[in-house]
Amino acid sequence: MTDDLISVIMNDHREVERVFAELEDKATDPRRRRELADHVIAELVRHSVAEEQFMYPAARKHLENGNELADHEIEEHSEAELLMKQLEDMDATDPKFDQLLGNLMDSIRHHVEDEENDLLPKLRAACSEEELRELGEKVLRAKEKAPTRPHPQSPDKPPANRILDPGAGLIDRMRDKLSGRAT
Ligand SMILES: [Fe+2]
Repeated sequence: MTDDLISVIMNDHREVERVFAELEDKATDPRRRRELADHVIAELVRHSVAEEQFMYPAARKHLENGNELADHEIEEHSEAELLMKQLEDMDATDPKFDQLLGNLMDSIRHHVEDEENDLLPKLRAACSEEELRELGEKVLRAKEKAPTRPHPQSPDKPPANRILDPGAGLIDRMRDKLSGRAT
């Protein structure tokens, strides 16, 4: 199985869904939920920036209604980002945490459906295998540039290793770093 664009994007979607499922499990304790939220937010920022850098430009280039599709997805990314910013520093015991997280999950699941039922099949049909492989590699490489975050695989560590910055929020800083806006 090659790492073409389609499989790279779909792998991300499955990984995000796996974390969502654990977040929805009522047995997951608040500290773990906060760590999972950090993890999935970091994943989603990486995913969105990589899509915006490589997948949507390819859609604009190759698909008849590519501009329309790309604009629509980008608008949904900014909606999801607004939710992620609100969630960024919220305690998992805050009643609003569940509400915002629910909204975020709805928004992302809608995004996944849109892409997997429409955009990805269209790109698969319109691009050559070589193009899809190149795009997949670019997406993987772009995602590696992301700054590190606390990882849910180390639940014993206190959240003190969060990246703290009195200025811009983490999501903005990650986005800037990934998209090369701040150098
Ligand atoms: Fe996606």
